[in-house]
Formats: sequence, structure tokens, C-alpha cells
Amino acid sequence: MEAVMKYLKPKRFSALILTPIMVLTMICTAYSQNAAEMEESLFIRLGGLEQISLVVNDFVDVFIQDPVILSNPVVKERKTADTAPYVKFQVTTMVCQVTGGPCQYTGLDMREAHRGLNVSKREWDRMVELFVGTLEKHQVSAEASEELLHIMGTTKDDIVVSGNR
Ligand code: HEM
Repeated sequence: MEAVMKYLKPKRFSALILTPIMVLTMICTAYSQNAAEMEESLFIRLGGLEQISLVVNDFVDVFIQDPVILSNPVVKERKTADTAPYVKFQVTTMVCQVTGGPCQYTGLDMREAHRGLNVSKREWDRMVELFVGTLEKHQVSAEASEELLHIMGTTKDDIVVSGNR
């Protein structure tokens, strides 16, 4: 009994109660911060993998038939329609990864993937136009679209090699 009383001395007692409460509070705070970050990721705001794959699917379909894009003889020569399913897969995985989703992009880096394609600024601008059209068609919010376009824009210097052909 005396041993129990000794253990329950005010100092020990408060440490006994307060320590688990502090640990629990820290765990809860970390968990809710994590949950908030996940909720806010661009990946989630774009509608997740299903929605992203629908957008990329539509976009690539339009892209590979577009006269401005096909006016590039190297792009046309690559038979873009034949490689479309593969490119759709790679672009979907890439968008998923760079927006905070659970995918891992394993394709070529952008400089390597577009080496020799001689992509012009005009073709780049057309690609952006087509992509914006697809985002609008799928009613992606203006804010999420802008964020995604900004991320895509960071690859421009690796893809575009010539001016307004
Ligand atoms: C933000 C812009 C772009 C992104 C994120 C992008 C992304 C990609 C990706 C992920 C691949 C597959 C890489 C791999 O093989 O592992 C690819 C391939 C390709 N891209 Fe792009 N691309 C962009 C712009 C363009 C533009 C503007 C053009 C042409 C005007 C273009 C033409 C092609 C072609 C033809 C291929 C297939 C190359 C081949 O298989 O031989 N891309 N792109």
C-alpha cells in the first residue's frame, strides 16, 4: 500500500497522466496535419488517378491528330498514333507522381524522351492550348488547371529546341 501511495505522489501522478496525454496530442496533431496535406494535394483535387487518366487519354487522342502537331515531320514520322497507349500510360503516371499521387514514373526524362523531335515553340503553345481545352472539357477547376500547367511548364526548356517553325 505504501509503495502504491509513494507511486501516486502528486509529482509522479501528474507525470503518469500528462505524459500519455502529451504523446496522444502529438500523434493526433501529426495525423491531422498529414490528412490535411493529403486532402489538399493537387492529385486529389484533380480527382485522383481515374480522372487524371481520363484527361490524359482524351488529351493524347486530340494531340496526335492535331494538324499543328503533325506539321512536325519528325513527330509525324514517329507514328505517334502507334505509341499513343504507351505515351498515355507514361504521361498519366508522371502527372500522378508530380501532383503528389502514389505513382512512380519510370519513363525517360523529358530531354531524352523528346531528343531529336525538334519540337518548336509553336507546337509547344499548341500543346498547351489543346491541354487547356481538355481540362475545360473535364471541368477541372481553374486553380487546379493553373497549378498543373505551371508544373508542365517547368519541362519546356527540356522539350522545345526550336522557334516558331
Ligand atoms: C508538358 C509537355 C509534355 C510532356 C509532359 C510530355 C511527356 C511525354 C512522355 C512522358 C513521353 C514518354 C516518355 C518515354 O518514352 O518514356 C513522351 C513521348 C513523346 N512526346 Fe511528349 N511530352 C510533352 C510535350 C510534347 C510535345 C510538345 C510534343 C510534340 C510536339 C511531344 C511529342 C512526343 C512524342 C512524339 C513522343 C513519343 C516519342 C517516341 O516514342 O519515340 N511531347 N512525352
